[in-house]
Amino acid sequence: MTTNINNSNTAIKITKLKKIYNNNKSDPVEALKGINLNIPKKSIYGLLGPNGAGKSTLINIIAGLVIKTEGEVVVWGNNIDTNSRNAKLAIGVVPQELIIDPFFTPIETLQYQSGFYGVVNPKNIIEEVLKSVGLQDKANSYARSLSGGMRRRLMIAKAMVHRPPILILDEPTAGVDVELRQLLWKNIKILNSAGVTIVLTTHYLEEAEAMCDQLAIINEGRVVAQGVTSEMIAKLDKKELIILTEKNYIKNINLKNVKFSLLKPNKIKVTFKPSEVNEGNIIEKIYESGTKIKSIISREPDLEELFLELTKKT
Ligand SMILES: Nc1ncnc2c1ncn2[C@@H]1O[C@H](COP(=O)(O)OP(=O)(O)OP(=O)(O)O)[C@@H](O)[C@H]1O
Ligand SMILES: [Mg+2]
Repeated sequence: MTTNINNSNTAIKITKLKKIYNNNKSDPVEALKGINLNIPKKSIYGLLGPNGAGKSTLINIIAGLVIKTEGEVVVWGNNIDTNSRNAKLAIGVVPQELIIDPFFTPIETLQYQSGFYGVVNPKNIIEEVLKSVGLQDKANSYARSLSGGMRRRLMIAKAMVHRPPILILDEPTAGVDVELRQLLWKNIKILNSAGVTIVLTTHYLEEAEAMCDQLAIINEGRVVAQGVTSEMIAKLDKKELIILTEKNYIKNINLKNVKFSLLKPNKIKVTFKPSEVNEGNIIEKIYESGTKIKSIISREPDLEELFLELTKKT
């Protein structure tokens, strides 16, 4: 299956996207309130946000599974309104819910999917894809006999079989054990180094920090922050030093814009903004005050702090 050439640097461009779910039984839900996103080609792009933020809605609109209310979505150069077929060919989606036909074997599932996408000569591709998710040994077992993690791997294989340039994964590692999670991440990294653009949602912030080169944090249907992961964390401009002193810390040091908190008689926490205060100066001042330092642990903010800061209820 070939997808059209996309000469721009953007894999997915989303402009002023809105979604209102209208149910007969309940009030309308405004799930997306005007989302703008630029997902660069060949990136691993993370969508983060609390439950109900709108992540799955966004992904499902991109995938053509949910109809948007307003705005524009361009996938691999194809507007989903005017060129939905090519837009769909350009992506493989692994939805949040596992949908598997229990009476099909992985090979049959992938053969069916290849037929659906008109993949020419699928035999080799199916073999390769099964191998890439580590399911070759289970190729002929009924899907109902696969474990939860194996089912998720089969879903990834299914999304890959038409060789899309973009793979979208909605919480690929939810409910997956540590070992399999690491294997999945390894597979995702391999796909990405082969040139596939990856978009994923996750609730594991540590993982998002390690995996994603760019991020968007979504809260209540809006993008509250987006950009390069490391730059976003750096913007927090907060640093902590945990200092263990030789003897009990008694001196009261006064330093502008630095907060000292006593955790134990011989343990202090120092909080400051690296953009305003030099770390070396703080340590010097403590020495000068006559306090001998035994050890220093320095802690930079992580994605979790950024996430909490941006998604806290106002
Ligand atoms: N089919 C639907 N009909 C009505 N409301 C819906 C529907 N699907 C989602 N919603 C609502 O839209 C909002 C966003 O839901 P969505 O599933 O996109 O969130 P999410 O960020 O994926 O959350 P989670 O982290 O729990 O998967 C929620 O308020 C949800 O209740
Ligand atoms: Mg979701």
